[in-house]
Amino acid sequence: MTRQTTPDDVRFVERAITLAAQSPVVDPNPRVGAVIINARGEVVGEGFHRGAGHPHAEIEALRRAGEAARGSTAFVSLEPCNHAGRTGPCTEALITAGVTRVVFALADPNPLAAGGADRLRAAGVQVTSGVLADEGLALNRTWVHRVRTGRPFVTWKFAATLDGRSAAADGTSRWITGEPARAEVHALRATCGAVIAGTGTVLTDDPQLTVRDAQGLTGPQPLRVVIGHRSVPGEARVLDETAPTRLFRTHDLGQVLTELGSLGIHHALLEGGPTLAAAFVRAGLVDEVVAYLAPALLGSGTPALGDLGIATIGNILRLSPSSVSVVGSDVRIVAGLHRPDQEGH
Ligand SMILES: NC(=O)c1ccc[n+]([C@@H]2O[C@H](COP(=O)([O-])OP(=O)(O)OC[C@H]3O[C@@H](n4cnc5c(N)ncnc54)[C@H](OP(=O)(O)O)[C@@H]3O)[C@@H](O)[C@H]2O)c1
Repeated sequence: MTRQTTPDDVRFVERAITLAAQSPVVDPNPRVGAVIINARGEVVGEGFHRGAGHPHAEIEALRRAGEAARGSTAFVSLEPCNHAGRTGPCTEALITAGVTRVVFALADPNPLAAGGADRLRAAGVQVTSGVLADEGLALNRTWVHRVRTGRPFVTWKFAATLDGRSAAADGTSRWITGEPARAEVHALRATCGAVIAGTGTVLTDDPQLTVRDAQGLTGPQPLRVVIGHRSVPGEARVLDETAPTRLFRTHDLGQVLTELGSLGIHHALLEGGPTLAAAFVRAGLVDEVVAYLAPALLGSGTPALGDLGIATIGNILRLSPSSVSVVGSDVRIVAGLHRPDQEGH
């Protein structure tokens, strides 16, 4: 039976979520934090997941708690896993340690790991689920997306003038936005497992597609992904030693994303250009748009996005904005792409 949520439940799950935020962003595994509280309401152990191959958050917290875990309550940002992965099921560790109650935020969407709550209940442990579930989801939204779809969450980022141009008539596009916006893009790249561009952009701009000065990186540089049939010359900067690169000589974007998903990549940054971005949007494979709009005009040149096959205003593709902010002298708009098949996700 599920017992009522108390203010302490919320407080300690909040603490577990704060700990989880210390887990690496770019990792095949979810970000998880755990807190163990004894019967007197004292914290006896805390932990967070430090990345693939390291102990899960619950195991770290239990190790710290030692014997004090007996009769305690465990607060976790994600449902304890029930599968014997590299580190063994957390449910069994909690049961063996004598934890009598478990409170968690987000139910595990991974069919391989789910069933943790049922296993705990079957062993006589009280379970309360869904406390701060939205916050728990926000922390792992890209990981949840990959678990559910097998593909990374795709953020399409672009820079455009106020009249919607992403390059001048001669193909040059450096730079449309100012330094603060460009610095933000490097920080955004650092949170992604892959950065994607089409052969068109690689052959025109010769971008390096790395995180500048490793700014904000907690792991390796993201995988650079180039999609298209044309050959990329060996001296292209995207093939230099600074980061790994995969060339996909295909137009099958679903297949590319499935392959990236199978590599454990849960967040990919699509950086253009307009032809590839339009193909992603048409295929329903863009989940979020991050647009930097510069107060500048070009009049002619490359549009930010290619043809979507929309001929009449009734078919306009409306997005759901989540934030609008000023970055230096540019404006950043973040918006989600609402797709009926994603409802409830
Ligand atoms: N301001 C910005 O944010 C920004 C960002 C990026 C680029 N740009 C500008 O965009 C321009 C380049 O534009 P672009 O459209 O040529 O570059 P692109 O979109 O990066 O590359 C287009 C190429 O992608 C390949 N491709 C792979 N899968 C595809 C699919 N499913 N459908 C269609 N094509 C697919 C095709 O190459 P193959 O023919 O080789 O198969 C296609 O020609 C440059 O001037 C650059 O400066 C601006």
